[in-house]
Amino acid sequence: MKVLLTGAGGQLGQALLASAPKGFDLVATSRQELDLADPEACRSAVEQHQPAWVLNAGAYTAVDKAESEPKLAHAVNAGAPEAFARALDQQGGRLLQISTDFVFNGTQGTPYQPQQSRTPLGTYGASKAAGEAAVQDVLGTGGRGLILRTSWVIGPVGKNFALTMLRLHRERDQLGVVADQVGCPTSTLNLAQACWQTLQISGTRELPTVMHWSDAGAASWYDVAVAVGRIGAELGLIETSADVQPITTADYPTPAERPAYSLLDCTATRAALDLNGEHWQQALKAVLQQARTP
Ligand SMILES: NC(=O)c1ccc[n+]([C@@H]2O[C@H](COP(=O)([O-])OP(=O)(O)OC[C@H]3O[C@@H](n4cnc5c(N)ncnc54)[C@H](OP(=O)(O)O)[C@@H]3O)[C@@H](O)[C@H]2O)c1
Repeated sequence: MKVLLTGAGGQLGQALLASAPKGFDLVATSRQELDLADPEACRSAVEQHQPAWVLNAGAYTAVDKAESEPKLAHAVNAGAPEAFARALDQQGGRLLQISTDFVFNGTQGTPYQPQQSRTPLGTYGASKAAGEAAVQDVLGTGGRGLILRTSWVIGPVGKNFALTMLRLHRERDQLGVVADQVGCPTSTLNLAQACWQTLQISGTRELPTVMHWSDAGAASWYDVAVAVGRIGAELGLIETSADVQPITTADYPTPAERPAYSLLDCTATRAALDLNGEHWQQALKAVLQQARTP
């Protein structure tokens, strides 16, 4: 089965490349081969490769920078999925669009269900929400366009919170980390497995149009930072962990407002994909075991 993968150089893209099951003919593209800000390039890639699936793992993911580059964020996060959807609608083929917990505003205080309305706070969330809406508008709800939302993605390569914390534990004695934002980390290793399982299972039965995939449990950024120090020391990646102090969102102002509580309810997706969730601390350990830090 031919799969056109975008964002192949990103953290999820690299995990997808490393774990592609047999039987998938992967056309892996990164920015050099396919500029997601160019809808004509997206259309023409579908026409050229005639994939059974487009797996759109590429995205404009710089949440704070998006506030000063809204046009580019929207072009990549909304324009590309729309262009893929239109091209696939014309010539056949399906789309797996990776999306985010940031499509929710984080005010409800209980886990978000896949069917809930999108209520994004900032430019990044709004651009990803517009991408989801475009996929649904063009490809409908019959399984030709699937949306897989995830949260707080961390992997052994690339730029992410866990690897940054590992470096800071090594460099500093004390760290202040936000403790009043709650969500759940998601390992790229587990997320990639969920993506491949989606493509495999969708050939045999219908899957929900919108799915949620995070690792199991819940955490604040502070909890994750503490766990990185503990596990990093256990694995011998750092000599000693730094003293991590909880701070508030107000203590650490950022250009983009973030949801205070963005836990995704993954129950239905785990059942649909026949996959158990791994607790985020176990998943974090597996990520750190494979970590390649500068
Ligand atoms: N990271 C998170 O915490 C998080 C949380 C929830 C959902 N997600 C979603 O999960 C998916 C995977 O994210 P990730 O963590 O793997 O992100 P990532 O590591 O930032 O990878 C994104 C990839 O997209 C590429 N890209 C950006 N702009 C592009 C353009 N104009 N043309 C072509 N490629 C472009 C980037 O290329 P360059 O390296 O050249 O910029 C990068 O390789 C995305 O849909 C993201 O929205 C991520």
